[in-house]
Parts: sequence; structure tokens; C-alpha cells
Amino acid sequence: MKNVLIIGATSAIAEASARIWAQKGYQLFLVGRNQEQLNLIRQDLLVRGSPQVKNFCVDLNNFDAHHLILDNAFQEFGTIDIVLIAHGTLSNQADCESSVDLTLEEIKTNALTSISLLTLLGNRFEQQRFGVIAIISSVAGDRGRQSNYVYGSAKGMLNTYTSGLRQRLYKSGVSVLTVKPGFVDTPMTANFKKGFLWSSPSLVAKLIVSGSEKANTEIYAPKYWWLIMFVIKIIPTNIFIKFKL
Ligand SMILES: NC(=O)c1ccc[n+]([C@@H]2O[C@H](COP(=O)([O-])OP(=O)(O)OC[C@H]3O[C@@H](n4cnc5c(N)ncnc54)[C@H](OP(=O)(O)O)[C@@H]3O)[C@@H](O)[C@H]2O)c1
Repeated sequence: MKNVLIIGATSAIAEASARIWAQKGYQLFLVGRNQEQLNLIRQDLLVRGSPQVKNFCVDLNNFDAHHLILDNAFQEFGTIDIVLIAHGTLSNQADCESSVDLTLEEIKTNALTSISLLTLLGNRFEQQRFGVIAIISSVAGDRGRQSNYVYGSAKGMLNTYTSGLRQRLYKSGVSVLTVKPGFVDTPMTANFKKGFLWSSPSLVAKLIVSGSEKANTEIYAPKYWWLIMFVIKIIPTNIFIKFKL
């Protein structure tokens, strides 16, 4: 049996991951800001096979609560085998362009809160000397595009941060997994027209769970996004600048 901490546990991708972990009989500590939703998810996960599911309700933009989350989770389970950081908001690019405050708020939610949590988790896991720290980033972080560069730059910050953290924690036996999904059909993307490149939360969850079992790396979810982003990244800047992406 393993102990799993899920931060941003009401996310559709996180919930799908939690269902797999519950079926494996893992204990879960769920963190989210919607108590009602957390309670519903908890009941479902208990039915699916988790022996214990604890809830912790907090708005993750409250940095002061980050210590408290970890204190409670470690106190509850003693050790944590896997942590998944999943919260995020899809920034409205046009609105951000006309508001410094909104831009900074989006960077806070999508990058700074995770960096705060990763800093605290990095130190705890370094002492613990085992475990996996997984975070959901995005393909959007691989190259800034005019349609979503506020969200993308926040995710890019996570990619660079976790790349460094991975190297640092490697010698302590701790894995850092950066997950870069492409388009996923979740509440975050409810207003988007779906097409053949879209994935379900359950498919991405399967890749997160398998990734957290073996890899100390970055994964694209699904894998074909590696090729798409490889092509996008190698386009020379003077050509890329003319694209309407
Ligand atoms: N969907 C995609 O196409 C896609 C692609 C690449 C990466 N991602 C990333 O995948 C992760 C999960 O997103 P999703 O697709 O599963 O969408 P989702 O179901 O909308 O989940 C986003 C979650 O983040 C939570 N959240 C946002 N701000 C928060 C805050 N301040 N405090 C606590 N919780 C907060 C939301 O809570 P509430 O429900 O309470 O608002 C929600 O549960 C995100 O990091 C997202 O950026 C998604």
C-alpha cells in the first residue's frame, strides 16, 4: 500500500488518477478548495477501494496554508510515496493582455503556488529519501505562442524548475515527474471545440500513474505530443513569428 497526496484533487485529471490509485488500494490525502466536491470524490474513492481518504480544503493561492497542508498530510500518513500537483486555471490571454493584475494572478495560480509547494516538498522528500513528486505542466510551456503565452509561460517556469529539482533530488532517491498533457477534455476546456488530438482525463491519468511508477523524467501525455512539440520548437523564430498559433 502507498500513501498519495493530491494537490488540486478536484481537477478532472487528478480525480481520474485518484481513481486508479484507489483501485490499487492506496491511501489518499486530497487537497482542494471545494469542500462539497472533495466530499463527493472521497466517497467515490472509498467505494473504489482506497482504505483511507482524507480531505483538506484550502485555496492554494493562500501561500500561508502550504506548510499546513504538508504538516497535515505527513502527520496523517507518516510518509508520502507519491504527490501529484494538479491545480491550475486556463488564463484568458486577451484579458491578461489588458491587465497586469490578472496576468500576475494567473502566474501566481499556475506557477508560483506550485513552486512554493515544490520547494517545501523538495525539502521533505530529500529528508525522507524516497518518493515521487509529480506535477501537471503542459505542452503550452514548451514555446510561447500568442494565443496563450501567459498560461504557457507559467507552465514553462514549472518545466525549468522541476528540471533542476529532478537533478538535485536524484541523489536522494527521489523522483520528479513533469507531465505535459496536450488537449484534454476537462471542465478547463469545456468551451473548446474538440478534435482528433484531444484525450480523455482517464487516458492522461493512466500515463501519470504509470509515469509515477517508473520514470524520473518528463512525459508528454499522450506521447505523440513529443513529436508535435519537437516540430513547434525547431521552427526558426523568424518564421514562427508569422504563425497564427
Ligand atoms: N485540460 C487540458 O487541456 C490541459 C492541458 C494541459 C495541462 N492541463 C493542466 O492539467 C491540470 C488539471 O487541469 P484539468 O484539465 O483537470 O482541469 P480542471 O478539471 O478544471 O481542474 C483544475 C483544478 O484546479 C483547481 N484550482 C484552480 N485554482 C485553484 C486554487 N487557487 N486553489 C485550489 N484549487 C484550484 C480547480 O478547482 P475548482 O474546481 O474549485 O475551481 C480545479 O479542480 C492543470 O494544471 C492544467 O493546467 C490541462
